[in-house]
This record gives sequence, C-alpha cells and structure tokens, in this order.
Amino acid sequence: MAQPTLRANGVDAELALFECLDEFHQQITQRLAVLKQLVDALGPEGASAAQRAQALDLANWFGVEARQHHLDEERHIFPALLTSADPDLSQHTLRLIQDHGWIEADWVEVSPVLRAIAEGQGWVDVESLRASVEVLCQLYLDHIALEESLAYPEARARMEPARAAALLRDIERRRQQRESREEVRA
Ligand SMILES: [Fe+2]
Ligand SMILES: [Fe+2]
Repeated sequence: MAQPTLRANGVDAELALFECLDEFHQQITQRLAVLKQLVDALGPEGASAAQRAQALDLANWFGVEARQHHLDEERHIFPALLTSADPDLSQHTLRLIQDHGWIEADWVEVSPVLRAIAEGQGWVDVESLRASVEVLCQLYLDHIALEESLAYPEARARMEPARAAALLRDIERRRQQRESREEVRA
C-alpha cells in the first residue's frame, strides 16, 4: 500500500500536511475494510497462512501507525481548536479526543486476538472479534468524517506554516525510519 507522499516545501506546507493527514485516513479506511474482510472470512477450520500474515500486518500497522496518527492530532491539530472562541468547535474537538480513547479501548480488545490468529492459536472467539471489529469500524468512520468535515478545515485555517512544516518533517522522518526497518527485515 502506498505511503503518504510529502511536499514539505515552503508555502505548500499546510496544504501538504493536510493532504498527508487525509492520506492517512484513506489508509485507515482501506485497512479497516481488509480487517472486516479478514474476520468475515474466518471459519472454524482456523486461519490460512495468508490470513495469519494479514492479521500480523494489521496488528502491527494499527498498533503503531494509527496510534501515532492520533498522537499527531492531539499534539499538533487539536490544541488550537480547543482554545477556540467557538464553543461548538471546542466541544466537537473534545469529542474527537474522547473518540481516540474509545478507539484505543476497542483496539486493545482486537489486537491480541489478531496476534493470536497470526500465531495460529486455536482459542479465538470469532463472533466476539467480529463484534469488536464492527464497533471499531463504526467509531473510526464517524470519527474520520467529523475530522475531515470540521476539525481539519478549522485547524488548517489556524495552522502556522512553520508548525505544519515541522510536523511534516516529523512524519517524513518516521516514514523513512519505518522503510529502513522494513528493508532490514526483507
Ligand atoms: Fe483522530
Ligand atoms: Fe485522524
């Protein structure tokens, strides 16, 4: 799957940052669809080798990349909205932060089950996993819709270019480190 492409140069910094954040949302949405397909396809015979590899990839990606995306938003996107004079905007931002907590709470139920699938363990309760994944998908899709329709446009209007460029550099540095680790493992 393609990684976000960055254009952290000068006046394009805010544009590039929010394009990058939108691309993360697309990646989250695509991986949620893969996760749902995976749990829908699991049967009593256990996971195939391909399903085990997919479970591991999803556990690793959501456990690192999605969590980091939430941290980036809480450190760099939401603070300017929380101090807004518009009470609706600050209220919606509090809800987005609370969503991150609910998503995390659901993820800590899903993650160990995915790792058990990846390891070929037989104790997995597939029905319970499907219910947790359903909740995770709904939480995430509602959350992303609110960010893209309200939080991101409002944050972009308030974002200083230097701050946008700094966050872009940080995202790019992490992407390069991840690619280096993947090359070492390959
Ligand atoms: Fe978020
Ligand atoms: Fe987000």
